[in-house]
Amino acid sequence: MKKKRTIKDITRMKEVGEKITMLTAYDASFARLLDSAGVDVLLVGDSLGMVLLGYESTVPVTMDEMIHHAGAVKRGTENALLVGDMPFMSYQVSIVEAVRNGGRFLKEAGCDAVKLEGGIEVSETVQALVRAGISVMGHIGLTPQTAGQLGGYRVQGKDAESARKLLADARALEKAGAFGVVLECIPDSLAGLITESLTIPTIGIGAGVNCDGQVLVTHDLLGMFDVVPSFVKKYANLAPQMKEAVALFMEEVRSGQYPDDEHSFSMKVDAQTLLAEKDDT
Ligand code: KIV
Repeated sequence: MKKKRTIKDITRMKEVGEKITMLTAYDASFARLLDSAGVDVLLVGDSLGMVLLGYESTVPVTMDEMIHHAGAVKRGTENALLVGDMPFMSYQVSIVEAVRNGGRFLKEAGCDAVKLEGGIEVSETVQALVRAGISVMGHIGLTPQTAGQLGGYRVQGKDAESARKLLADARALEKAGAFGVVLECIPDSLAGLITESLTIPTIGIGAGVNCDGQVLVTHDLLGMFDVVPSFVKKYANLAPQMKEAVALFMEEVRSGQYPDDEHSFSMKVDAQTLLAEKDDT
């Protein structure tokens, strides 16, 4: 029987060199599928803004939207560690607001932990969250909520100065009490260096093989979008299969092939007789 993953389990996985798997989920049906497949961590990412809600970035995503989806994911999750992503402006204005919003993920949605973007500049916030009993995962490198300030969606930490800054950010997050850190879009050798210098696990996305674990947006790996970032490997190509299924449904409805007898209900009496009886009264 599978057992509920805890933060202790995730920490132990780094200690024994067992790779950690993390995927995004935004609703109960996907959560159920991924959880039953045995994924270690489910992230209710603010990427839901683009993946599900049709926004152009993660910036417009609200706390209420995150809580709504995180609650749905919780209802489909039995074993995975559940992490809720703090949306833009839910933790930047003040530490008090950050703790209040972080607490909502645990109290209202049933998450085990929260994730937030940033390094040294959010370390005091991370400390306050952890002190309040809210476990935190950090996120550095390409941080989508502030991609504009980083010059767009591009690889970070390529030169010595920015690489040193990322290493310092990772250390500050560990010192502040984060239990793990996502490394997004950084060179694999830098990810390796950060991974070696931390006791907490690193989870890479576009950060090479040297991390303690890997995360992807589930819809990307399943091939539900035509265009995906270059680091994404499509493990399935569902978009054409879904379109084909829908086209076949339309064809069969239009030709009267669907629904056939197998997919219809029958009556115990003959419908014509029933009508005749009714006319008699
Ligand atoms: O929002 C998200 O889905 C993320 C991951 C891809 C790391 O932050």
